[in-house]
Amino acid sequence: MTEHELTRRRLLALGLALPPLAALAGSDLFAGELLAATPAIVDDDDPTPAQTEGPYFTPNSPLRRSIIPARAPGTRLTLTGRVLTTAGRPAARALIDFWQADANGAYDNRGYRFRGHQFTDANGRYALTTVVPGLYSGRTRHIHVKVQRRGGPVLTTQLYFPAVAQNRSDSIFRSALLVRNWRKVGSRRAARFDFVLA
Ligand SMILES: [Fe+2]
Repeated sequence: MTEHELTRRRLLALGLALPPLAALAGSDLFAGELLAATPAIVDDDDPTPAQTEGPYFTPNSPLRRSIIPARAPGTRLTLTGRVLTTAGRPAARALIDFWQADANGAYDNRGYRFRGHQFTDANGRYALTTVVPGLYSGRTRHIHVKVQRRGGPVLTTQLYFPAVAQNRSDSIFRSALLVRNWRKVGSRRAARFDFVLA
């Protein structure tokens, strides 16, 4: 049995479930995503490239769609998208685990600040609420992620942001991993990224 399956079984046993994505539709951001005329466009059917895990992954992150600790500073960011197969089919109940630096570029390596996992819905959709990650020495701005469809291998990768000067000097940076549709929504930021799993 995979770790993924164990987690699901444990959650089911505990009677825990995330609120449906529709419950998040109170935000204009998410309503916009849901009402988009063509929400399933994929730029290409190439699998999302893998990247190094880096030194700061912590297993067993909490189940939650917002990874912002109480009163944490930073520009709020909503990242939405889908997990798809290379055939363009949505991966329902795929596990996505996010971790990142806070707005000042610091990781929490003792606890779970800015760490959390969630499962895609029946249409392969996910929604992450976080802050725009800060810069730290030697790296451009990025979010780490592990994605696993049910019974599939784990994809470990990183997501990047457009118009960051350090993208040009970070040897790990890949433009294929830039978030799409990067935009301002009031004082917040929003972006989209669809993961394509081989
Ligand atoms: Fe990192």
